[in-house]
Amino acid sequence: MADIFQKCLDFPDAKFVKASGLYPFFKPIASSSGSTVHYNGKPVVMIGSNNYLGLTHDKRVMQKAKEAIENFGTGCTGSRFLNGNTVLHDDLEQKLSRFIGKEETLVFPTGFLTNLGTIGCLAGPGDIILSDTENHASIIEGCRLSKATVITYRHNDMKDLEARLKEIPSDKACLIVTDGVFSMTGEILNLPELIKVKKRFPQVRLFLDDAHGLGVLGKKGEGTAGHFGLTKEVDLIMGTFSKSFASIGGFLAGPPDVVDYVRHKARSFMFSAAMPPASVATVLACLEILEAEPERLAKLKENIAIILKGFKKIGLAFLPSETPIISIFVGDEGKAFQLVKDLFENGIFTTPVCYPAVPFGQALLRTSYMATHTQAELNKVIEVFARLAPQYGILQNQVVIPKELIQQTATYNFAALA
Ligand SMILES: Cc1ncc(COP(=O)(O)O)c(C=O)c1O
Repeated sequence: MADIFQKCLDFPDAKFVKASGLYPFFKPIASSSGSTVHYNGKPVVMIGSNNYLGLTHDKRVMQKAKEAIENFGTGCTGSRFLNGNTVLHDDLEQKLSRFIGKEETLVFPTGFLTNLGTIGCLAGPGDIILSDTENHASIIEGCRLSKATVITYRHNDMKDLEARLKEIPSDKACLIVTDGVFSMTGEILNLPELIKVKKRFPQVRLFLDDAHGLGVLGKKGEGTAGHFGLTKEVDLIMGTFSKSFASIGGFLAGPPDVVDYVRHKARSFMFSAAMPPASVATVLACLEILEAEPERLAKLKENIAIILKGFKKIGLAFLPSETPIISIFVGDEGKAFQLVKDLFENGIFTTPVCYPAVPFGQALLRTSYMATHTQAELNKVIEVFARLAPQYGILQNQVVIPKELIQQTATYNFAALA
């Protein structure tokens, strides 16, 4: 007899890793100051979060969130379409439009739902979506939902993208979807080249997921498109508030007609409850701080440079990066889990990146940094890696990083770190 639950009974992976004592997921944090958290009764330096600007614990941000709870309660208890819209949501959309540099913005309950709903309703059967092979899972799900024909192109490879586009009949509507900063490696999209290619194909539109570029790249943290001065050339920009903006939620920014269509068609927007008021107020406060204190971005860059310099001095096998995401090549999955455990025991909280997020046998340790990490915390990270790396064989002279992982970031200037 067939049983829908059979696959669950036959699923040994998690049980096997748990039994080995190396299961690295779902660690219950007891309390947090942002850059340091308490786990298992002791402080650990957090280098596994997306809190790039460290704003989750800014007193002004926390105060605004508290005030929103006082005024609106803890939740919206309904879709924005019906009872869940507040003046805060509308205010946030207007401010984001100005910040990103697009005419109109729509705020969703999460970034995942933004991708799911937007891609899912904009493209349809008969349309073509061109998707980078390393795009985020939420993009992949949005593509599936759309029922469009999905063609993947080699990661950040604009020659391959162009070759795929040439094969598509010119009467077909096409959407290119790509991350602006790739979440596992911190690599920045080659947007200037992508735009050059796009201009040769007038029927093509571009959708940019800038979850990890927002609050990090651009003069005011406006993201990847702003960083390259190409905001006008990108048709649609989405972002999340679950990273630099210290909250939860997502948004789509673009031309008014398109955003309005999505507002009335994206089922993940229409049939899901609105972002809680405290979460919206948090983002509004973050935007204000970002505009008033550009030095936060400078501090983040400074911290990234300290870590890159430290890792380079140790000879660690890290992937080139210009963003707060600095991944270290480990290779074997089991070794990555053991290393994460060892790092914990030495006061460092990191996260492994394993199959299926990366190809099997190419496990990474994804580390990420905040503007609010102190020099002492960063020193500790470098000191612990210097001690553990040789025994794990993760020094550059001990391991060969697959070529496709280090071809990235053409603009990266290692010499500047010397
Ligand atoms: C590139 C990218 N897009 C979208 C998302 C989804 O964002 P959210 O956490 O707001 O659902 C993430 C989150 O991990 C991401 O990294």
